[in-house]
Amino acid sequence: MKSQKIMHIVGARPNFMKVAPIMREMRKYPDRFTQILVHTGQHYDESMSEVFFSDLDLPKPDINLGVGSGTHAYQTAQIMLRFESVLLENRPDWVVVVGDVNSTIACALVCSKLGIRVAHVEAGLRSFDRTMPEEINRILTDQISDVLFTTEESANENLLREGIPKEKIYFVGNVMIDTLVHLLPKTDNRLILKELGLLKSDGQAETRSYMLVTMHRPSNVDNSETLKEIIGTLIELSKHMPVIFPVHPRTRGQIADMDLQTSTSLIFLDPLGYLDFLTLMRHAKLVLTDSGGIQEETTYLGVPCLTVRPNTERPVTISKGTNRLVENDSRQIIEAVKDTMDNLSKGSMRRSIPELWDGRASQRIVEILANLAIGE
Ligand code: UD1
Repeated sequence: MKSQKIMHIVGARPNFMKVAPIMREMRKYPDRFTQILVHTGQHYDESMSEVFFSDLDLPKPDINLGVGSGTHAYQTAQIMLRFESVLLENRPDWVVVVGDVNSTIACALVCSKLGIRVAHVEAGLRSFDRTMPEEINRILTDQISDVLFTTEESANENLLREGIPKEKIYFVGNVMIDTLVHLLPKTDNRLILKELGLLKSDGQAETRSYMLVTMHRPSNVDNSETLKEIIGTLIELSKHMPVIFPVHPRTRGQIADMDLQTSTSLIFLDPLGYLDFLTLMRHAKLVLTDSGGIQEETTYLGVPCLTVRPNTERPVTISKGTNRLVENDSRQIIEAVKDTMDNLSKGSMRRSIPELWDGRASQRIVEILANLAIGE
């Protein structure tokens, strides 16, 4: 059997943890797969990109397109232009794209024009909110992918409804959870809890109650009034327990212009690497976020998650997991936090791990790609 040339695409922070387990799994079969890693450079800061390569044991990218920031059209177009020559030169059998960022749609689109097959990992998720750039990226990438790997039942239903043939869809589970399962043991002895003063006392592993926050969606941070209200809410909450907030560059830009009241228990940090963030998430009393992946990771960890969005493309995190949606309104957030703390003290939090979120999604993906090669 001919060895398959697989090209993996990473671009933005949430891509790295999805590609790492697939590449690790493929490395077990060097006679079957040759792998090429392309980084589009959509995210480029040390804290948004570099640190993930060491934390996740990802190989250095073979090719870096170095696109950097810009408007959506500029970023997407630059990736397409630069990726086209890479594809023509390398002619892979498959290009694997993950998630829903601009790099995902840009690379998939170039492949479809050149007749190179695309596998989309984390296909079919829908928020049904077309004002989100990610929703457009998801819908379009799925339409032009040759194989679609899904993480939850809702995704299978969405794809079928949009006319994707059943034969192209494979329900494999969640590669992000593969990474979490693989790396959780490495969070046992991280220094971050001690450094942030979150241990009950020196030398003891028990942590204080604290809340972990991430916020970067345009709908929450681009409008300064909305962001001000969220920050004001965090200051209020930090009177009751430490609030740890690693700040995304998009949000940092907005906060820099604000005249902030200082509060000793609202702790702003630079974006963290994977292992430090996972350590903080694992021990948090609750997480307040607008991220996609964090809704899934908290569900797996059994940590309550309040998602500051009107919708989610990951409904299984609500129906089975620990996630709850909350409006970006101070009163609602504070009430939801209180509710969650009450439920925690009553021990009435539900917890169930969604089907196939078992750390073996990458194994299934690699088996499927290997079998498709046999069929040729
Ligand atoms: C992107 C993804 C989003 C994902 C998020 C996670 C799209 C459409 N959006 O949003 O789905 O949840 O990443 O992080 O692809 N910046 C830096 N340093 C960096 C990266 C970005 O300073 O390393 C700045 C950019 O200059 C820009 C802002 O952060 O001003 C936003 O970056 P951008 O790539 O446009 O999108 P994200 O908001 O990060």
